[in-house]
Amino acid sequence: MLSIIIPTKNEASNIGKLFNRLNKIKKIKNSEIILVDSDSKDNTRTLAKKLSRKYKLNVRIFNTGKLDLSNSVVFGFKKARGDMICVMDADLQHPPEMIFLMLRKLEKEKADIVIASRFVKGAKIGFSAQRVVVSKIYRFLAKIFVPKSQNVRDPAAGFFVFRKKILKNAKLEPVGFKILLEILAKTEYGVDKIVEIPFSFKERKKGKSKFNFKQTCVAFKHLLKLSRTSKEHKRFLKFCIIGASGLIINEGLLWTLTEFAGLFYLLSSVIAIETSILSNFVLNDIWTFRRERKGRFLKRMFKFNIARIFALFINLGILWLLTTIGIHYLISNLVGIAMVTLFTYLSSLLWVWK
Ligand code: GDD
Ligand code: MN
Repeated sequence: MLSIIIPTKNEASNIGKLFNRLNKIKKIKNSEIILVDSDSKDNTRTLAKKLSRKYKLNVRIFNTGKLDLSNSVVFGFKKARGDMICVMDADLQHPPEMIFLMLRKLEKEKADIVIASRFVKGAKIGFSAQRVVVSKIYRFLAKIFVPKSQNVRDPAAGFFVFRKKILKNAKLEPVGFKILLEILAKTEYGVDKIVEIPFSFKERKKGKSKFNFKQTCVAFKHLLKLSRTSKEHKRFLKFCIIGASGLIINEGLLWTLTEFAGLFYLLSSVIAIETSILSNFVLNDIWTFRRERKGRFLKRMFKFNIARIFALFINLGILWLLTTIGIHYLISNLVGIAMVTLFTYLSSLLWVWK
């Protein structure tokens, strides 16, 4: 059986249409719908009750009070009687007609999780430009701090189907909205048993999104919380410490070669940069990524070098771009360095020491 878990908060303006569309799906009669509602003040629950009677749908409604979105969903997991679970929003941004398509995919491909993804080929998103940028940064950081989510294109999706058995032994303690990332980080599934299918994430027509600035911060807080479980933030710290040591080597050599060896400063700089890249590489190889060392030393060194040189251009690009739009060049440079650190870290993690 399939348990469809739908978190709601003040969705009275959407619930009618949602139930109407759910009712048109044939297979829905054999599944249960679990509404986990955080104390809506607009009759969401009463309306849902009425409609489930009208359509004779198997609906269980819970008031989860002060619990947030993800914790309401976890509450729903505990109530679920099905061996498959679907999580879906109530505001029709997730087309209910896809539920059984996803379920079929899960069964056919013997997958553990099927995600309706906004970021695989063929998908569309009705998002503001601002949210696209935030989402991009979020997914970037998720790759870094939640390594188990690395192969998933849309770890922040809110529409997915999975086998309940993967929850066994998992201690889910999410905060905020991103329940899928919590699942990816903490449950037992096959990494090669995740399937993403594209869908069109429509704009919300009625009611308002509850994903505000505060929730954006909570999402990043959630990431940090998960990084503590994975201990990945320690690795990142090591990488930054080595980066700082590289900076000292770079400056020191530039100074020594120019002042004492009498080299032209640009030539000194080339030598200084390359030396710091190499020392960064060796230190990362024996400390940050010592357990990930595979294959040939020289090959890793070569890859690391390429990533760093590429990063140099990114740094220059950001410096130029931000300065052109009126930001002080020293601040632009700091932003550049921060972005480049993330970039080189990610390429180290996903490419050099993969
Ligand atoms: N129980 C409960 N408690 N439900 C909530 C709460 C809450 O505090 N806040 C929101 N919801 C419900 C909404 O009623 C809706 O059904 C669903 O959760 C999604 O909330 P929205 O406010 O519409 O969020 P969004 O569309 O901006 O973001 C959604 O889609 C993103 C992309 O798939 C969420 O699912 C995000 O987690 C997701 O990243
Ligand atoms: Mn929404």
